[in-house]
Amino acid sequence: MKKRQVIEAYKEKFGGDFRLFSAPGRINIIGEHTDYNEGFVMPAAIDKKIWVAITPVRGSAVTVYSVDYDQISTFDIQGPIPELPHWALYSYGVVKELQNKGGKPGAFNAVFGGDIPDGAGLSSSAAIECAFGTALNSLFDLGMDKLEIAKVGQLAEHNYAGVRCGLMDQFASMHGKAGHVIRLDCRSLEYEYAPLNLNGYEFILADTRVKHSLASTEYNKRRESCEEGVLLIGSKMPGVKSLRDLRPKDIYPFKGMLGEETFLCCEFVTEENERVLETVTALENGDLEKVGGLINASHRGLRDKYMVSCSELDLLVDTALTVEGVLGSRMMGGGFGGCTITLLKSTSVDQFVKTTQAAFQIAYSSDPVFYRVTIGDGAGEEIVD
Ligand code: GLA
Repeated sequence: MKKRQVIEAYKEKFGGDFRLFSAPGRINIIGEHTDYNEGFVMPAAIDKKIWVAITPVRGSAVTVYSVDYDQISTFDIQGPIPELPHWALYSYGVVKELQNKGGKPGAFNAVFGGDIPDGAGLSSSAAIECAFGTALNSLFDLGMDKLEIAKVGQLAEHNYAGVRCGLMDQFASMHGKAGHVIRLDCRSLEYEYAPLNLNGYEFILADTRVKHSLASTEYNKRRESCEEGVLLIGSKMPGVKSLRDLRPKDIYPFKGMLGEETFLCCEFVTEENERVLETVTALENGDLEKVGGLINASHRGLRDKYMVSCSELDLLVDTALTVEGVLGSRMMGGGFGGCTITLLKSTSVDQFVKTTQAAFQIAYSSDPVFYRVTIGDGAGEEIVD
C-alpha cells in the first residue's frame, strides 16, 4: 500500500521522527468547466490519496523525494527559481504561494507518493498541493483555514504548472466528506454536503489512460474564450461579470457577435450550470433516471460545444450507453483524456466492464482501467501506524 511505501521511504532516506499528512483526489458528478466561470460544481473526494511524510529542518534547503518517480529534488526556499522536474514544481509552488501570502514556511525534508493515477483527471496535482499545503500550515503554524489552503494550491497550479484552473479540485481535496458530494457555488464559495444515496446504483470510473499533450493549452484556451465572451456580452449588457450571470437564452442574441467557437463555449457553460441545479433536485428526489439524462447531456455538450472530449472518451461513453442498467455516462474533468464517470446499477458493473473493455481493446489495442468509487474525507493529518 502506498501509505506504507511513503513511510518506509521516509525512514530510509531521512530517518528520525516525521509527521504524515494526506490529501485525496476527486470525482465530479456534474458541472464541468463551470468553476472558473463562477458557476456550480458537484465534486466529491475519493479514497485515493497523496501522502506526505515530512519534518521541518533548519536553514533554507528543502529536500523532497518522490516515491512514484523515485527521484530526489532540492530547492532553496529563499533562493532564485530553480530548475525542477515537473513533480517537484507543486511543492515548490505551494511554498512560494505561501510566502506570497505573507506566510513564513520553513525548510523541510519530505517524501511523498500516492495511489491517484497520474493524468487520469482525478486531480493528483491538486492532491499534492493540498497535502503539502496542509502539512506546511500545520508544521509552521501558518494559521490558514481549508479554503485558504485550497486557494494556495490553485495559485501554485496557475503559476508553476501553467494551468489556469478553477478552484473545484483543490476545494474538494480540502473539504471532502465521506459518503457526501459537495454542492459548491464557485461565486460565493458557499457549499453544502449532500449524502449520496444511490440505492443499488453506483458511480464507476473508466480510465482511458491517455492524456493528450494539448490538454493544458486547450484548457487555458477555453478559459480565454469564456472570458472573451463575457467581455463582449458585458459591453452590451452592463452588470454581466461572468457567465454565471447569464442563462442560455441570454446568449443567443449574441451569436453573431461572439463567433461560432466562443458562442458554443458560452452556451455550454450556461447550460451546464442549469444541469448542476437540476441534478441537485433530481438527487434529492431520488430520480436517478433524470440524473443519468443530465450526465449524458453534459457529455454531449462537452463533446460538441466545449470540444474537450476525445475519441477514446467518446468510445467509452457510447459503449457504456449500450449496457443495460447504465443510466448516464460522460467524460470527467478537464478533458482530452482521463476518465469517464458512469452511473449504473451495481448489478450491471460486470457487464459494463466486459463490454467497454472489449470495445476499447478492439479500437485502441489497450485496456481501460476501472475504479469503483468510494467517497472519502478531505485532507488532514494521519496516524503513522
Ligand atoms: C480541471 C480543473 C478544474 C475544472 C475541471 C473542469 O480539473 O483543475 O478547475 O475546471 O478541469 O471542470
